[in-house]
Amino acid sequence: MSLADRADRHDLYQRSVQGVEFELEFVQETFKALRGRWPHRLREDFCGTALSACEWVKLNPAHSAVAVDIDAEVLAWGEDHNVAEMSVDEQQRIELLSADVLTVETNKVDICQALNFSYWLFQERAQMKAYFQRVYACLKKDGLFFLDSFGGFEAHQTQEEVRELEGFTYIWQQAEYNPVTADMQCYIHFEFEDGSRLEQAYAYRWRLWGAKEIRELLLECGFSKTRIYLQAFDPETDGPLDEFVESERCEDVACWIAYLVAEK
Ligand SMILES: C[S@@+](CC[C@H](N)C(=O)[O-])C[C@H]1O[C@@H](n2cnc3c(N)ncnc32)[C@H](O)[C@@H]1O
Repeated sequence: MSLADRADRHDLYQRSVQGVEFELEFVQETFKALRGRWPHRLREDFCGTALSACEWVKLNPAHSAVAVDIDAEVLAWGEDHNVAEMSVDEQQRIELLSADVLTVETNKVDICQALNFSYWLFQERAQMKAYFQRVYACLKKDGLFFLDSFGGFEAHQTQEEVRELEGFTYIWQQAEYNPVTADMQCYIHFEFEDGSRLEQAYAYRWRLWGAKEIRELLLECGFSKTRIYLQAFDPETDGPLDEFVESERCEDVACWIAYLVAEK
């Protein structure tokens, strides 16, 4: 049996793609800075294994979360691996919902987050607008919506990014890109020390949305203001830092990543 045969793709995804500790610190601190109070209730859209929602609940006994994903299989994995490890009290403060974010009804939340670009699967403007209107409705009066975005000239190219991690290699592939429609096909592959691969462990068909058009759409849906926080780079090594700075100005770099924050 090869290492790929024995691998668990959800576990590999959590270890290679997600950085929930930093993500939640950013979300929490930004909420406090903009709203003058600490947030308590969080909704994680496109939650996959609900890792972020689980970590949110573990951070503070006053926290609660609802996590939404359309795929019952990935939610079951999250229940068995992430929720199952939590205390009884923590489990009572989290709810995993197998539902479509376009129709789901949830109690009002302080924060709604849709991260790792998942919302780009909505390719048509009308569909994206319908989604943002649903998010607007689920937020408390001073609620915030957190999204992320990337761009730069490399985003408009077919290309691969390879990262060596503990025991495996993560490969992000932008396999197709149509500059007329902004339609892109991306894959995550995993490769192992014995040469075996989990080919197309995850596949994403996205529209490469521009930050400006997303921000305009958020305002159209009733959000009062949007902000963009760009990832900072180390001036000496040029490597990305765990630091996101609010700015309307970005250099013409190969690749930028940012958080978008929409205020109700
Ligand atoms: C890229 S994963 C995101 C995982 C996680 N949120 C993260 O930050 O890495 C995208 C997830 O969106 C889910 N999804 C796709 N369409 C959806 C929809 N209409 N409503 C809810 N979830 C959806 C998929 O099942 C998949 O688990």
